[in-house]
Amino acid sequence: MKDIVENRKHLGLKDKIRIGLLVLKENGPVWCACLGGYYAASTVAGKFFGAMDSIRRRTGIPGMNSKALNKAIWEAWDWGAGGDEWTPSPEWKASVMKCVLERYIPSGVKVLEIGPGGGRWTGALITRSQKFTAVDISASCIEVCRKKFAAETKASFMVGSGSDLKDIPDASVDALWSFDVFVHINLTELQAYAAEFKRVLAPGAIGVIHHGSVGGALGGWRSNVTHESFLETLKQAGLQVDASFTEWQDEGTTHQAGLYKDVITVFRKA
Ligand SMILES: C[S@@+](CC[C@H](N)C(=O)[O-])C[C@H]1O[C@@H](n2cnc3c(N)ncnc32)[C@H](O)[C@@H]1O
Repeated sequence: MKDIVENRKHLGLKDKIRIGLLVLKENGPVWCACLGGYYAASTVAGKFFGAMDSIRRRTGIPGMNSKALNKAIWEAWDWGAGGDEWTPSPEWKASVMKCVLERYIPSGVKVLEIGPGGGRWTGALITRSQKFTAVDISASCIEVCRKKFAAETKASFMVGSGSDLKDIPDASVDALWSFDVFVHINLTELQAYAAEFKRVLAPGAIGVIHHGSVGGALGGWRSNVTHESFLETLKQAGLQVDASFTEWQDEGTTHQAGLYKDVITVFRKA
């Protein structure tokens, strides 16, 4: 709806009236009344979204992205689709695997995943790993993953606090992966996690994190983190950024990191 509100700004008033009359002529009054109601509702929805965004920015309230809300939402989620409800197409998922996961996560190393959810990327990560650990704030996600990957003896799954990795020993991780998780985590928790990344990553270890870039301004229940604040947080924690991109090319097709101008950042502990 928000996009429709924004797109309407590209038509002048005269053109809107001319097109409106044409719509009426071609579709009749009942359909047009529904269209009018739909446009009015989308305008109101856009105004409310703008008010929510500005209140959150002004007052510093967490919106939908506090630790308590993340835990409550993701523990209540139906994980029947295994996270593929966020996969726009099989081609996109295959390309994430090939151009992001397999490109940056080395084979045969100790891998940590934060926020596995229903295990959308977990199987591929376990296959690549020598030892695999996943930490999620949601106990139900951990239960789902424990069942789904019960046969994987090198994999372990733990519930975390949502801002620390206290059960992961120092310098014990060679590669860190987190997709569709940090898009929902506010700056305060990101800062706490970044200090933990520095602690748990081995020297030279790599991290790949998918995150938001506009502080929630485009919707998608994104957190207050921006591209700048994400990179600055890693820098403050003493981590080095290797790459940060919103899209990539795969055999002539451009794939997006996600909706809402999401970004994938690849970083390293020197
Ligand atoms: C949208 S789901 C994505 C799940 C999976 N990574 C995927 O791509 O399908 C978000 C996941 O992040 C987890 N999560 C949210 N906040 C978290 C936090 N502060 N720490 C760890 N996990 C968190 C949720 O429990 C859930 O598993």
